[in-house]
Amino acid sequence: MEYRRCGNSGIELPVISLGLWHNFGSVDDFGTARDMLLTAFDSGVCHFDLANNYGPEPGSAELTFGKVLRDDLAAHRDEMFISSKAGHDMWLGVYGGNSSRKNLIASCDASLRRTGLDYFDVFYSHRYDGVTPVEETMQALVDIVRSGRALYAGISKYPPEQQEKAYRLLAEAKVPCLVSQYRYSMFDTVAAKDNFGLAADSGSGITVFSPLAQGLLTDKYLHGIPADSRAAKSTGFLQLSQVTDEKIEKARRLNDIAASRGQSLAQMALAWILTDPRVTSVIIGASSVRQLTANLRSIDSPGFSPEELSLIQSIID
Ligand SMILES: NC(=O)c1ccc[n+]([C@@H]2O[C@H](COP(=O)([O-])OP(=O)(O)OC[C@H]3O[C@@H](n4cnc5c(N)ncnc54)[C@H](OP(=O)(O)O)[C@@H]3O)[C@@H](O)[C@H]2O)c1
Repeated sequence: MEYRRCGNSGIELPVISLGLWHNFGSVDDFGTARDMLLTAFDSGVCHFDLANNYGPEPGSAELTFGKVLRDDLAAHRDEMFISSKAGHDMWLGVYGGNSSRKNLIASCDASLRRTGLDYFDVFYSHRYDGVTPVEETMQALVDIVRSGRALYAGISKYPPEQQEKAYRLLAEAKVPCLVSQYRYSMFDTVAAKDNFGLAADSGSGITVFSPLAQGLLTDKYLHGIPADSRAAKSTGFLQLSQVTDEKIEKARRLNDIAASRGQSLAQMALAWILTDPRVTSVIIGASSVRQLTANLRSIDSPGFSPEELSLIQSIID
């Protein structure tokens, strides 16, 4: 594994991290989830990305992670970097989920109980909710850190204006933002234009999510929609309507470039993200050990020639 320093901090993260948004819930096979977590850790993937609502049902990915941690990895806690987040709905109801102080602090406590952890390495505000003042959310993060519930604070998906404000407030409170998490892939490059520069300038590291566009940047959908795919599952967040002919055509052309480089489309898509030195870590998802180990091989990817980079750019633009 290769590790990158997270912004201006003393923390290093693996360039590939494992996220538990899908495939680790109570509806999923526990044995596969456990195998993926152990394979990841044995491969040097020491950063695991959670959130209160990951499942389904919401909360169950943290329970799965907690069980594996307790039964298999308890001796290794200090070798792991574990994140969680709050801000999306855990349930429908007045306090079910936003970025208020009440939700963040109560959620953090509930996440600690589910995982059995004493503390998270980083706790994120999962989103700017459009209502809660950034001051309130950042004060909650500061208090979460000061109370020992988490070692560092992070933000996710904040629009540029609120992102800048969050960095300023956290810096003033002497709890600088360790890491900022944004969606980024060959199929979604908005964050690189809107958010990465602000993060890098403020000294925040960057973790990116859905680097394979939830599977669209793999060979999975090149010949139809397999029954065991995220797009086909009722519990998946990838909608059938997102699997468009245009995306599949682009994926086919990218797949040809990957083949000419001797790698899979998924491996090339991950290696391409890591060409941006501002990115600290790419948080991947996986539904099998086979996918996970194949994707981890992106670390051994050959470099990109200028011709390959401009060809890729012409396809994704
Ligand atoms: N901050 C936020 O708001 C936010 C939002 C979303 C995600 N995240 C984080 O980012 C993590 C990753 O997101 P993601 O799961 O969308 O990432 P992703 O890596 O873009 O998609 C993962 C999915 O792609 C498919 N896949 C992966 N490797 C494959 C391969 N080699 N061949 C074929 N298919 C492959 C699998 O889908 P199948 O199930 O179809 O096999 C897998 O579940 C999450 O777990 C979470 O921790 C954060």
